[in-house]
Amino acid sequence: MANYAELLSHVSIFQHLEPAALERLGSRLKVVRYNKDSLIVSQSDPGDSMFIIDQGRVKVVLYGDSGREVILSIFRSGEFFGEMSLLDGQPRSANVLALEDSALLVLSRDDFVKHLAESPSTALNILAEMSSRLRRADEVIGNLALLDVYARVARILVDLAKNDGESTDEGIVIRARPTQQDLAAMIGTSRETVSRVLSEFQRRGLLSMQGKKILLSHGFADQELSHEE
Ligand code: CMP
Repeated sequence: MANYAELLSHVSIFQHLEPAALERLGSRLKVVRYNKDSLIVSQSDPGDSMFIIDQGRVKVVLYGDSGREVILSIFRSGEFFGEMSLLDGQPRSANVLALEDSALLVLSRDDFVKHLAESPSTALNILAEMSSRLRRADEVIGNLALLDVYARVARILVDLAKNDGESTDEGIVIRARPTQQDLAAMIGTSRETVSRVLSEFQRRGLLSMQGKKILLSHGFADQELSHEE
């Protein structure tokens, strides 16, 4: 039987568990694999399980009537999703798609409830994680209402640099940025606008782009970027 205790020990909501509890939880998980671009969770479906990402990355998305996509979040190895339906009994709040070939560990509602009865402190950790997701959502709502598109593109690049960036002599390198379409869906604008703003930042010497790689100049994060400059 596969043992997922090692992975679980790196998941924020399970980090506090003793080895025996991690083993017990690990034995309740089933692995499922999804190819890149496949739909894992469909909005409005009933939800009876949550997922922990072993390998790969997923995006949480909403679709407008015209098919326009809004990306609410991107999760990677060691993160989890699908907890909301388990907690409130409502249908899935959003769609979740595989951004890469992914291996996920599935925890059923029954096993989730059993685990919480044995280890109630996991519930507190889930609340902490949900608070931090709500903070992030608040920030995104505030940015949509308060920042122009130049500042929103700059903000998302700074976020990517914080999570995935590598500091070099020339600046901070983001090696595998999301596509321009995905960047647009993360900040509520069109791909064409993202392309125009990135080109303007490049023209102003604030960044340079090479395929999927972006080099942000030193001090990029400290600039007040807007259209007027
Ligand atoms: P659930 O509603 O069961 O299925 C969709 C999942 O997407 C949801 O649980 C959360 O895990 C995740 N999700 C929904 N909205 C957000 C958000 N704003 N930020 C991060 N994750 C979210």
